[in-house]
Amino acid sequence: MTDTLLDDVALQPNPLSEGLSQGRVPLPCVVVIFGATGDLTQRKLVPAFYALAADGLLPPGFSIIGAGRTEQSTEDFREGMRKSVERFGRVPLRTDVWNVFADGLRYCTYDLDHPDGLHALHETLDELDRERGTAGNRIFYFSIPPSGFAALAERLGTEGLSHADGSSFRRMIVEKPFGHNLDSARALNGKLHVAFKEDQIYRIDHYLGKETVQNLLVFRFANGIFEPLWNRQYIDHVQITVAENLGAEGRGAYYEESGALRDIIQNHVMQLVAIVGMEAPSNFGAETVRDEKVKLLRAVRPIHPDDALSHTVRGQYGEGWIDGERVPAYRQEHSVAPDSLRETFVAMKVDIDNWRWAGTPFYLRTGKRFPKRATEIAIQFRRVPHSPFGGNTATPVGLLPADSIDPNLLVLRIQPDEGITLRISAKTPGQSMTIRTVNMDFLYGSAFLKESPEAYERLLLDCMLGDPTLFAREDEVEEAWRFCTAILDGWRAHPPDPNDCPNYEAGSWGPQSSSDFMARDGRQWRRL
Ligand SMILES: NC(=O)c1ccc[n+]([C@@H]2O[C@H](COP(=O)([O-])OP(=O)(O)OC[C@H]3O[C@@H](n4cnc5c(N)ncnc54)[C@H](OP(=O)(O)O)[C@@H]3O)[C@@H](O)[C@H]2O)c1
Repeated sequence: MTDTLLDDVALQPNPLSEGLSQGRVPLPCVVVIFGATGDLTQRKLVPAFYALAADGLLPPGFSIIGAGRTEQSTEDFREGMRKSVERFGRVPLRTDVWNVFADGLRYCTYDLDHPDGLHALHETLDELDRERGTAGNRIFYFSIPPSGFAALAERLGTEGLSHADGSSFRRMIVEKPFGHNLDSARALNGKLHVAFKEDQIYRIDHYLGKETVQNLLVFRFANGIFEPLWNRQYIDHVQITVAENLGAEGRGAYYEESGALRDIIQNHVMQLVAIVGMEAPSNFGAETVRDEKVKLLRAVRPIHPDDALSHTVRGQYGEGWIDGERVPAYRQEHSVAPDSLRETFVAMKVDIDNWRWAGTPFYLRTGKRFPKRATEIAIQFRRVPHSPFGGNTATPVGLLPADSIDPNLLVLRIQPDEGITLRISAKTPGQSMTIRTVNMDFLYGSAFLKESPEAYERLLLDCMLGDPTLFAREDEVEEAWRFCTAILDGWRAHPPDPNDCPNYEAGSWGPQSSSDFMARDGRQWRRL
């Protein structure tokens, strides 16, 4: 797996992306972004649409209606979005591309709390159908606070906007968080379904749009050599880490409600667990892939609330140092209670009750204010059963024990430094039989000269194409919540000891109890 070999591989078309979206241009449509004056629209959504335009992947007549409570003209909206693309865009703004793109931008003031607020939107949609040929095709992007998701869906339903006549389509994309526990997620699903059918609903988890996460599917199911090893017989355990070096920053109010389990584990990490653990789908049809993911999530052994403390570790960061800079404790962040017990770190052990994984645990951890930002999946293989090698001699006298040879490790780096590393044992040059581990590396950056699209680009295009493979289905979301809600219930019944909170320093890898947790199983967290 050297770069030289991979240069050859890079010339081959990628079957997944070719099959799913490359070379396909969606039908003309209007995307209505509710929450168009918000942070997500400015930082991610409009820059992603612009990048699609620059790559020639948008249909003719493509239009965006920005809807927000703030009053502004279409001209002001265009100007604001131009600045966003210049500031946050992956590709530099080109005036010729921008002019065509901006022609399709409109703005409508819309307040969800106002009963007849959709009047202007109706008129603008009709105008775009007439003037730009969007033919009644609409995508409604819910980029408003989650408390408004159900009400907005209901309003679109009663206004007749969720139902399409003839051959046109109506879809909705809903942002995270999708509920705050199993009951609320179920209730939200129920309310969305009053106006939209399941095949119209696209629940976004931007992790699934990342090239490296999609490559996991290709790695597993387009390479014959790893699949026979991908099970309890050869894998000792799996570690999934989502490390953030940032603190709560300006999102203190949100984080106080959410915490690390809801913010990262329930969605992104459970999606990674599903993709690493699932069986091979028979094809890449959306339902086939999602059926396999759901089967895996159903096999995850529930953690009973009474066992939550023994199966998980919670933490909260105190003040500390990151990159030579003093950073405040979580409790000192804006909009955070000075006595908050909210978790900014979670570690847990997940057992999967099926033939492939029984006895091979998945260890998950996520935290804020780690020393660096990194997301990776580490597959730790079992040790060799017997070592035929002696100390520094080639004689069979005084054999080294098998546990002196490091086991193989496969690391899939999701971000940053996207790539894959396989750790193997090798003989160091010289007369003696000395063994050392070496890495075989595949680096995205050097193997493929093409820049990866942003996750949102891929997902927005897939939604326009009507391909929900990389979006979470109703049952996936509910299964992930079923698992996480039991833990939250256990934690609520046993709040952290205020004397032990905060329990890790900013700039460290989490609380000591997390290392102890692994040590109890005779294992340790990887140093990233
Ligand atoms: N920002 C991110 O990086 C990020 C990441 C993941 C998920 N999300 C999710 O994406 C959604 C948007 O997040 P954000 O960060 O963009 O939020 P934000 O900056 O607070 O923006 C919220 C938007 O919703 C609009 N809005 C609020 N209440 C409304 C109402 N009653 N009627 C109509 N519009 C209303 C606001 O309009 P006005 O400003 O004009 O009042 C604004 O455009 C949230 O669900 C969030 O959880 C965001």
